[in-house]
Amino acid sequence: MDNELMRIGVSLPESLLERFDSIISKRGYSSRSEGIRDAIRWYIRYYEWMSNIKGERFGTITLAYNHHQRGLVDQITEIEHEFIGTIQSTLHLHVDADNCFELVVIHGEGERIRELSEKLTALKGVKHVKLTTIVPEEK
Ligand code: NI
Repeated sequence: MDNELMRIGVSLPESLLERFDSIISKRGYSSRSEGIRDAIRWYIRYYEWMSNIKGERFGTITLAYNHHQRGLVDQITEIEHEFIGTIQSTLHLHVDADNCFELVVIHGEGERIRELSEKLTALKGVKHVKLTTIVPEEK
Protein backbone atom coordinates (compact mmCIF):
# COMPACT_ATOMS: atom_id res chain seq x y z
CA MET A 1 0.00 0.00 0.00
CA ASP A 2 1.36 3.40 -1.00
CA ASN A 3 -0.27 5.33 1.80
CA GLU A 4 0.50 3.01 4.64
CA LEU A 5 1.65 5.07 7.62
CA MET A 6 5.22 4.47 8.71
CA ARG A 7 6.46 5.32 12.15
CA ILE A 8 9.77 7.18 12.53
CA GLY A 9 11.72 8.44 15.53
CA VAL A 10 13.35 11.86 15.29
CA SER A 11 15.71 13.59 17.72
CA LEU A 12 15.29 17.37 17.88
CA PRO A 13 16.64 20.16 20.05
CA GLU A 14 14.00 21.01 22.66
CA SER A 15 13.80 24.66 21.63
CA LEU A 16 13.11 23.68 18.02
CA LEU A 17 10.34 21.32 19.06
CA GLU A 18 8.79 23.96 21.32
CA ARG A 19 8.70 26.46 18.48
CA PHE A 20 7.24 23.86 16.13
CA ASP A 21 4.57 22.86 18.65
CA SER A 22 3.64 26.47 19.21
CA ILE A 23 3.15 27.00 15.47
CA ILE A 24 1.09 23.85 14.90
CA SER A 25 -1.12 24.71 17.85
CA LYS A 26 -1.72 28.25 16.48
CA ARG A 27 -2.43 26.84 13.03
CA GLY A 28 -4.93 24.36 14.40
CA TYR A 29 -3.33 21.03 13.52
CA SER A 30 -4.98 18.10 15.23
CA SER A 31 -1.66 16.47 16.08
CA ARG A 32 2.09 16.94 15.95
CA SER A 33 2.26 14.13 13.36
CA GLU A 34 -0.07 16.06 11.06
CA GLY A 35 2.16 19.15 11.40
CA ILE A 36 5.29 17.12 10.66
CA ARG A 37 3.67 15.50 7.59
CA ASP A 38 2.77 18.95 6.31
CA ALA A 39 6.28 20.28 6.98
CA ILE A 40 7.81 17.34 5.08
CA ARG A 41 5.45 17.92 2.13
CA TRP A 42 6.47 21.60 2.14
CA TYR A 43 10.15 20.62 2.22
CA ILE A 44 9.70 18.25 -0.73
CA ARG A 45 7.79 20.89 -2.73
CA TYR A 46 10.52 23.43 -2.01
CA TYR A 47 13.23 21.02 -3.15
CA GLU A 48 11.29 20.18 -6.32
CA TRP A 49 10.78 23.90 -6.97
CA MET A 50 14.54 24.46 -6.52
CA SER A 51 15.32 21.61 -8.91
CA ASN A 52 13.41 23.47 -11.63
CA ILE A 53 15.51 26.65 -11.42
CA LYS A 54 17.21 26.67 -14.80
CA GLY A 55 18.59 29.29 -17.19
CA GLU A 56 19.43 32.90 -16.42
CA ARG A 57 18.06 34.16 -13.11
CA PHE A 58 18.27 37.14 -10.83
CA GLY A 59 17.62 36.62 -7.16
CA THR A 60 18.50 36.87 -3.53
CA ILE A 61 19.57 34.50 -0.83
CA THR A 62 18.95 35.58 2.74
CA LEU A 63 20.87 33.89 5.53
CA ALA A 64 20.69 33.99 9.30
CA TYR A 65 23.40 32.42 11.39
CA ASN A 66 25.24 32.48 14.67
CA HIS A 67 28.73 33.74 13.98
CA HIS A 68 30.10 31.97 17.10
CA GLN A 69 29.56 28.58 15.45
CA ARG A 70 33.09 27.27 15.04
CA GLY A 71 34.45 27.71 11.53
CA LEU A 72 31.15 28.91 10.09
CA VAL A 73 32.19 32.44 9.06
CA ASP A 74 35.25 31.02 7.26
CA GLN A 75 33.12 28.43 5.48
CA ILE A 76 30.60 31.05 4.32
CA THR A 77 33.41 33.29 3.07
CA GLU A 78 35.02 30.34 1.28
CA ILE A 79 31.76 29.43 -0.49
CA GLU A 80 31.01 33.04 -1.43
CA HIS A 81 34.47 33.36 -3.02
CA GLU A 82 33.85 30.14 -4.94
CA PHE A 83 30.74 31.80 -6.46
CA ILE A 84 32.27 35.17 -7.40
CA GLY A 85 30.71 35.10 -10.87
CA THR A 86 27.22 34.52 -9.47
CA ILE A 87 27.25 36.79 -6.42
CA GLN A 88 26.78 40.45 -7.36
CA SER A 89 26.71 41.92 -3.89
CA THR A 90 26.29 41.04 -0.22
CA LEU A 91 24.87 43.03 2.64
CA HIS A 92 25.74 41.97 6.17
CA LEU A 93 23.90 43.08 9.29
CA HIS A 94 25.05 42.28 12.82
CA VAL A 95 21.70 41.53 14.49
CA ASP A 96 22.91 41.22 18.07
CA ALA A 97 25.96 39.89 19.94
CA ASP A 98 25.55 36.42 18.40
CA ASN A 99 23.49 36.61 15.24
CA CYS A 100 24.17 37.79 11.73
CA PHE A 101 21.86 38.43 8.83
CA GLU A 102 23.18 38.40 5.28
CA LEU A 103 21.55 39.28 2.00
CA VAL A 104 23.28 37.89 -1.09
CA VAL A 105 22.26 39.34 -4.45
CA ILE A 106 22.73 36.87 -7.28
CA HIS A 107 22.67 36.84 -11.05
CA GLY A 108 23.65 33.82 -13.07
CA GLU A 109 22.81 30.34 -14.22
CA GLY A 110 20.00 28.68 -12.28
CA GLU A 111 21.97 25.54 -11.61
CA ARG A 112 24.85 27.50 -10.15
CA ILE A 113 22.46 29.52 -7.97
CA ARG A 114 20.90 26.32 -6.70
CA GLU A 115 24.31 24.89 -5.92
CA LEU A 116 25.22 28.02 -3.94
CA SER A 117 21.97 27.92 -2.01
CA GLU A 118 22.34 24.23 -1.18
CA LYS A 119 25.92 24.67 0.03
CA LEU A 120 24.89 27.48 2.37
CA THR A 121 21.87 25.53 3.63
CA ALA A 122 24.01 22.50 4.49
CA LEU A 123 26.34 24.46 6.80
CA LYS A 124 26.03 23.67 10.50
CA GLY A 125 24.97 26.78 12.40
CA VAL A 126 23.03 28.38 9.56
CA LYS A 127 19.52 28.81 10.95
CA HIS A 128 17.73 30.15 7.94
CA VAL A 129 18.30 30.24 4.18
CA LYS A 130 15.73 31.65 1.80
CA LEU A 131 16.23 31.68 -1.95
CA THR A 132 14.10 33.71 -4.31
CA THR A 133 14.69 34.04 -8.03
CA ILE A 134 13.10 35.76 -10.98
CA VAL A 135 13.48 35.12 -14.69
CA PRO A 136 14.77 38.26 -16.47
CA GLU A 137 12.07 39.87 -18.57
CA GLU A 138 12.14 38.78 -22.19
CA LYS A 139 12.83 41.53 -24.70
NI1 NI B 1 27.59 39.85 11.82
